[in-house]
Amino acid sequence: MSTQQAEPESQEAPEDPAMKGAESPAADEQTGGGMVDDHAEKRAELEGETVHIKVFRYDPEVEGKQEPRFDDFHVPFEKGMTVLDAVMYARDEYDSSLTFRHSCRQAVCGSDAFFVNGKQRLGCKTQISDLEQPVRIEPLPHQEVVKDLVVDMDHFYDQMHTVEPYFQDEDTPATEDLEEQRQTPENREKIKMSSRCIWCGACMSSCNIAAGDNEYLGPAAINKAYKFAMDDREDEQIKEHRLRILEQEHGVWRCQTQFSCTEVCPKDIPLTEHIQELKREAVKKNLKFW
Ligand code: SF4
Ligand code: FES
Repeated sequence: MSTQQAEPESQEAPEDPAMKGAESPAADEQTGGGMVDDHAEKRAELEGETVHIKVFRYDPEVEGKQEPRFDDFHVPFEKGMTVLDAVMYARDEYDSSLTFRHSCRQAVCGSDAFFVNGKQRLGCKTQISDLEQPVRIEPLPHQEVVKDLVVDMDHFYDQMHTVEPYFQDEDTPATEDLEEQRQTPENREKIKMSSRCIWCGACMSSCNIAAGDNEYLGPAAINKAYKFAMDDREDEQIKEHRLRILEQEHGVWRCQTQFSCTEVCPKDIPLTEHIQELKREAVKKNLKFW
């Protein structure tokens, strides 16, 4: 079993260190994600072998690493190995400076969204055996790279907060008279999928509109607004307030229904559908005034 790390080759990474992940040539070369059809056969092939991963590297604080490049690692394959397992192995066994975020390892925290074989995916939810080798692992496109696979999420979080992602009900008494606020099963069903968001940023990273319009709220923030706007426990005034935020110039009308966000969301949230529904709600709200 070979566990050696191959020599890092100086490779076809983008020229500008302040570049965004999507500007990597990998984005165009590997659209489609390289999924392998016969997973069982592929796993059997890999038993006892190593998997070849190519990991994007960039460190603005170290002179010798300021030039973006890809490093090659050969990681011993184990049944059930995920992309996150592979990069953790590479970090723990070969290069402790390899930097990326992760926490829960079970698709809950949303911290390990990467650009893997040309598609946004959660590292901990993506089986290595489902991917063609070498597995190319890059930071999320359209975000500033902080170091290696870590991107700056500040803008994404700012957009999420723009839609006031918390329950508001002006009728809620602020005293001991507070009662449990019940929701109907039907209403729960309606907003169920929207509440699954784990703030991973994959959808925003996949969105061409967000890439060209930095002020666009983006699919995750709009979905978050949907969750609250469709919750019957909020009163009409708050719903109208939310719709006013959403129908602004950089809100729902920017969406061109390309479905890229829906395709990459690791929680299968029907983002495009939700955006379309909010567009209809915004139109209905405005018609009331005529
Ligand atoms: S909507 Fe989906 S892809 Fe977007 S941040 Fe939430 S979980 Fe991630
Ligand atoms: S490590 Fe938490 S979502 Fe992958």
